[in-house]
Amino acid sequence: MTMNNPSAVITIDGPSASGKSSVAFLVAKRLGLAYMNSGCLYRYMAHLWQAQDFRYQPGQVLDAGCFDFRLDFVLADRLRILHGDQDVSSILEDDALSNLASRIAAYPEVRSFLLGLQHSYAVQPGLVTDGRDMGLVVFPSADMKIFLTATLEERANRRAAQLSGRSVSQAVVAEQIRLRDKRDMERSAAPLKPADDAIVIDTTQMQRSAVVDQICAYYRKKCFPT
Ligand code: DC
Repeated sequence: MTMNNPSAVITIDGPSASGKSSVAFLVAKRLGLAYMNSGCLYRYMAHLWQAQDFRYQPGQVLDAGCFDFRLDFVLADRLRILHGDQDVSSILEDDALSNLASRIAAYPEVRSFLLGLQHSYAVQPGLVTDGRDMGLVVFPSADMKIFLTATLEERANRRAAQLSGRSVSQAVVAEQIRLRDKRDMERSAAPLKPADDAIVIDTTQMQRSAVVDQICAYYRKKCFPT
């Protein structure tokens, strides 16, 4: 929090299935701050790209203005994601879309296009946001930067539990996550890695509520020292 930027920003980054979105949502609710899930912005772009049958490169779609959109993140009992008055939450849950989002996210022009939109969510009294590069690139002067990790095995277990009911094996889920990590970490535009000033929390052995408690405690200590 500075005089030039009076709204607080907390960034929570990490690899796929590290739990960052659900943790960030709960931290935002607990602290009474706004929330923005940058992965959903990439997913929504992928959805728009898919709707055009991939006839054009993302750069051409950008030039045509077809990626101009805004999503609203509504903090209720669960997160509701709105495009205008349409609830797009279930569209964005599709796992195939998240893989497509990882592909589209490798285009530097897509990343720089999303910067302005992402910045617009930093409103009073503050924002909690999650993604891959929120602390390193999008909000480099954030008040607090968190990077969540967990072993591949634990992340695959968590994702498989979310997908229970669909017949996907833990091994298949683990392989999908491994490939996504590789693509997100090896791309040249904003590869996934913690900012130097990020607090890294290994959540492998932690309950989600304990992660939320820890982040809120860090935040109060850092921004409101007694
Ligand atoms: O967080 P997620 O799984 O919904 O994100 C989907 C993809 O979007 C992810 O594999 C990489 C990309 N992404 C990104 O490159 N940068 C972000 N800040 C958020 C997501």
